[in-house]
Amino acid sequence: MNKADKSILTKSTIERLEKLLVVFPEKKSIVLPALHLVYEQFGYLNKAAIAEIAARTGVPDIYFEEGANFYTMFPIAPVGKYLIQVCHNISCTLMGADELVRYLKEKLKIEVGETTADGLFTLVTVECLGSCGTAPVMQINDTYYENLTREKVDRILEKLRRQE
Ligand code: FES
Repeated sequence: MNKADKSILTKSTIERLEKLLVVFPEKKSIVLPALHLVYEQFGYLNKAAIAEIAARTGVPDIYFEEGANFYTMFPIAPVGKYLIQVCHNISCTLMGADELVRYLKEKLKIEVGETTADGLFTLVTVECLGSCGTAPVMQINDTYYENLTREKVDRILEKLRRQE
């Protein structure tokens, strides 16, 4: 990438990217940490940012695209401020994940994959979050919520709304 081109990456993201290139002598190894950088800056995998990283590093775009398809925890389009990921794998389903999703849809007035009109919440279902012993489980941004009930969901959403 020509240094005169306007960057959409922040200075901090560029500096962290440059450090990755030092830490990982094999350039292709930066794919996953670079996807994290894009996710941290934009909240989803912004395509223009990935293209810029590919241009800056010389790692072909296709490696980032493959990484983005494989690591499904990264949203590929803009999402609400709070990304609610409800596990719908076997343990959580046995412990009421379907009912939990129904309740969240009703409460937020959205379908799975949608964002509330105020831009606060996006609801998605995901595969096992690795916390099967405390099912049903959901993750909101970086925080896990376990042993969920309707009452707990009410408290969690209320607390997040109060922070606005
Ligand atoms: S099945 Fe839900 S956390 Fe593992």
